[in-house]
Amino acid sequence: MSQVTIESVLQEERVFEPPAELAAGARIGSMAAYRELVARVEADPDAFWGEQAREQLHWFEPFHTVLDWSNPPFARWFEGGTTNLAYNCLDRHLDGPRAEKTALIWEGEPGDSRRFSYRELHAEVCKAANALKALGIRKGDLVALYMPMVPEATIAMLACARIGAPHSVVFGGFSAEALRDRLIDGGVKAVITADGGFRKDKAVALKPAVDQALADGGCPTVEHVLVVRRTEQPTAMEEGRDRWWHELVDGQSADCPAEPMASEDRLFVLYTSGSTGKPKGVVHTTAGYNLWVHLTFQWIFDLREDDIHWCTADVGWITGHSYIVYGPLSNGATTVMYEGAPRPSKPGAFWEVIEKHKVTLFYTAPTAIRAFMKSGREVPDHYDMSTLRILGTVGEPINPEAWMWYREVIGHDRCPIIDTWWQTETGGVMISPLPGATPTKPGSATLPLPGIAADVVDSEGRSVGVDEGGYLAVRRPWPGMMRNVHGDPERFRKSYWEHITGADGRPLYFAGDGARRDADGYYWVMGRVDDVISVSGHRLGSMEIESALVSHPAVAEAAVVGRPDDLKGEGIVAFVTLQVGLSGDEALGAELRRHVGTEIGPIARPDEIRFSGALPKTRSGKIMRRILRALAAGEEVSGDTSTLEDRSVLDALRV
Ligand code: WTA
Repeated sequence: MSQVTIESVLQEERVFEPPAELAAGARIGSMAAYRELVARVEADPDAFWGEQAREQLHWFEPFHTVLDWSNPPFARWFEGGTTNLAYNCLDRHLDGPRAEKTALIWEGEPGDSRRFSYRELHAEVCKAANALKALGIRKGDLVALYMPMVPEATIAMLACARIGAPHSVVFGGFSAEALRDRLIDGGVKAVITADGGFRKDKAVALKPAVDQALADGGCPTVEHVLVVRRTEQPTAMEEGRDRWWHELVDGQSADCPAEPMASEDRLFVLYTSGSTGKPKGVVHTTAGYNLWVHLTFQWIFDLREDDIHWCTADVGWITGHSYIVYGPLSNGATTVMYEGAPRPSKPGAFWEVIEKHKVTLFYTAPTAIRAFMKSGREVPDHYDMSTLRILGTVGEPINPEAWMWYREVIGHDRCPIIDTWWQTETGGVMISPLPGATPTKPGSATLPLPGIAADVVDSEGRSVGVDEGGYLAVRRPWPGMMRNVHGDPERFRKSYWEHITGADGRPLYFAGDGARRDADGYYWVMGRVDDVISVSGHRLGSMEIESALVSHPAVAEAAVVGRPDDLKGEGIVAFVTLQVGLSGDEALGAELRRHVGTEIGPIARPDEIRFSGALPKTRSGKIMRRILRALAAGEEVSGDTSTLEDRSVLDALRV
């Protein structure tokens, strides 16, 4: 991990108090209430989590132990209990008036729209669950989803949870190659996909990527492919393997009891990038994850019964899992799912959805906000967004300008901004303002949620001083934490729990981010300290992109770094050394960019390829990324370069 420097610390003096009328009716309505809650958890964390788990979730069998942390980093929560996430998201809302409440509002890209009450969603999920059973999918079998943003994605996730078949959702923007890697790593038994989806006014095919991933027996464990009809594109179906969703699901019984799952039974696997090797399959389990998304959703959005919540993420990412599907539905809230995105033909697409569906809670990414700023306030000003109560952001640091714009232009100075820090690994939000309690500062995620023992530390696990840079770490397990890396417990330990050890010898959870804390204890997250690049809030490992480049026959060696980008947060720059005798030109650069797109997906395509005769390395052969980062950003290379093996490399790269 690299050193955390805070050269660019901005001094932000503005503070915004929670609106009085919001605070008045809030679940946690003042800093005193927040502190009281924190004190209550700190006095006895197990008692608090146990009480919350009993109160907030339905249990088939009660648990006997809240937390077993005897074998760190492998935590076991709510041992002895059985529960089911789909039951908590659906069945328990069917007894009273919530049964007819809208659970899911779906807005299609071409303007089609669907709504499901809790009763209707329950029936659809049961049918899909029975369809999976009919295919021979059993408890414990891994099911992959490779889908556009259609209601069937939510239905399929819940159907998997209902029968205890963990899902592995693969973002529909990943390539066939990336999909294949994930199918093989997981040992996936069935894939749920669609003929295609609509993106930027166009129908984009998805099923061919599944065919390609499965071609030539590439994924021997995959027995079935279930295909949702969305775009009606001509779609090849393989006899005996592929089935249409509407043919198999629609005729099933709407009665399918939820499988009682042990608390620690696997709920899902979701791949994410780290600094080494291939993406890791982050494993989340049933009860702890359910409790964490349930509680955090209530807290950070100060949930009310009539709220309409819209999270703009894709269900292929953790944000979609936790705050489109599971957090809202577990709370009996109304959740909005949108297939489209703002595009030249519809720059106000998001605002139109807010106006049309009277959205009250809106959750999006800084990269989207920066894009909106660029196209000017005339676009949002055209829409009635007076229903909005709370505005959230997630995925990357938000710059104060974007924060202020969000507050003024979208929130009309009425809505608190909640900047939420968390990760695929944490399951749900960890550091965030509580909208009725926490005074906010533009660019700060403010304070840890109650029960989260976050800290900013040095490599020995000591808390650093006020305004000093350090590593963002968590000292104590929390219910929503990841439990393992699929198939690789050693990697779990190494990636997250071996970087920092506390004075008491206990490992700390290392998040991979740098942060500082100001005099009020507010957290300012400064970005990754490892080799993860964040492009529009999407995590990409430099190594993954480098491996993709090196798999091209012309490439001998490649090093990939991020460089600051006004819109995307970070852009990707690749330094490439070609095989002897080859020389780089624009055409080869374009080909390499395409190649990375095919290997991983369009989001991983480098913005720039720089050909170079050699890469700067230490005497032991390690590429000096610090130097490449400076070069990519157009900065002077500062700091120690004495370990550089061949200084002439640096001179050659400068030109
Ligand atoms: C970054 C997304 C600053 C961070 C939920 C983290 C943030 C990574 C914030 C996780 C924030 C997320 N401020 N940085 N509010 N939220 N990040 O796994 O670098 O896709 O480690 O989870 O995004 O990305 P992931």
